[in-house]
Amino acid sequence: MKIIDNIKELREEIKNLKGSIGLVPTMGALHQGHLSLINRAVKENDNTVVSVFVNPIQFGINEDLDKYPRQLENDTKLCENAGVKILFAPKVSEMYQGNKDELTLICPPYEAVNKLCAKSRPGHFDGVCSVVAKLFNLTKANRAYFGQKDAQQLFIIKKMVKDLNFDIEIISCPIVREADNLALSSRNQYLTQHDRKLALNISKALFQAKKDYKEGIATKKSITDNSLKLMEDLDVEYIEFVDINTFEIQTQINNDTLILIAARVPESDTRLIDNIKLWD
Ligand code: PAF
Repeated sequence: MKIIDNIKELREEIKNLKGSIGLVPTMGALHQGHLSLINRAVKENDNTVVSVFVNPIQFGINEDLDKYPRQLENDTKLCENAGVKILFAPKVSEMYQGNKDELTLICPPYEAVNKLCAKSRPGHFDGVCSVVAKLFNLTKANRAYFGQKDAQQLFIIKKMVKDLNFDIEIISCPIVREADNLALSSRNQYLTQHDRKLALNISKALFQAKKDYKEGIATKKSITDNSLKLMEDLDVEYIEFVDINTFEIQTQINNDTLILIAARVPESDTRLIDNIKLWD
């Protein structure tokens, strides 16, 4: 595996690769969720490129950019063992010459960003789309792999690819959970033992909603009320219902409903997101 930290060398290596290229963009602190994307990319492509880059332009001023876990040594071992060809881990100065307001950015449409995570994280998806577009250009990947946990991100990236005619296939991969259903996230590292117990109520609320829906006893109101009760010790940012195909907010639930939750766990002030499709 080649570990590359600069664009010039990356371009040269990419030119020399034979066959298809699968890209897994990450911010590092790799866990089993990332590994599920990486393993799939390795299986489906002749070459897999993993990027590890904590992208400053997708963080707001009061967010966790500085404390976001950086574990390149461990990430390197995991990628090597998984059969990755190139690990691209650039410095910020290699990716950006200037501050965010001096850069050409890709801004998703108002419709996609006037809701859910974008409301509390203004500019977040501009930062995500801009770095992902750069990585698509640099790696010339045929396929790129993203997790369904970041459902709004996945929807927005698919839209960007369609709107801007990127010649790349976006592969969405299922959420990976711990045995007790906590969705894996690099931010779980922040959780105290007490927080982790509280955080479990997010997935409990989602799985309860799915069960109630399957039993025919769920409405949008009953799910919202029950979930908020379950999550009363959390600071719930939103519980929302969208059509999984259009990402439009629904007034009534149906088989295409995706329920999304964002909540902060108080002790460590960790913001977590999770979602579930009501029917599959
Ligand atoms: O999902 C993430 O880890 C990041 O948003 C991504 C896609 C790697 C862009 O920085």
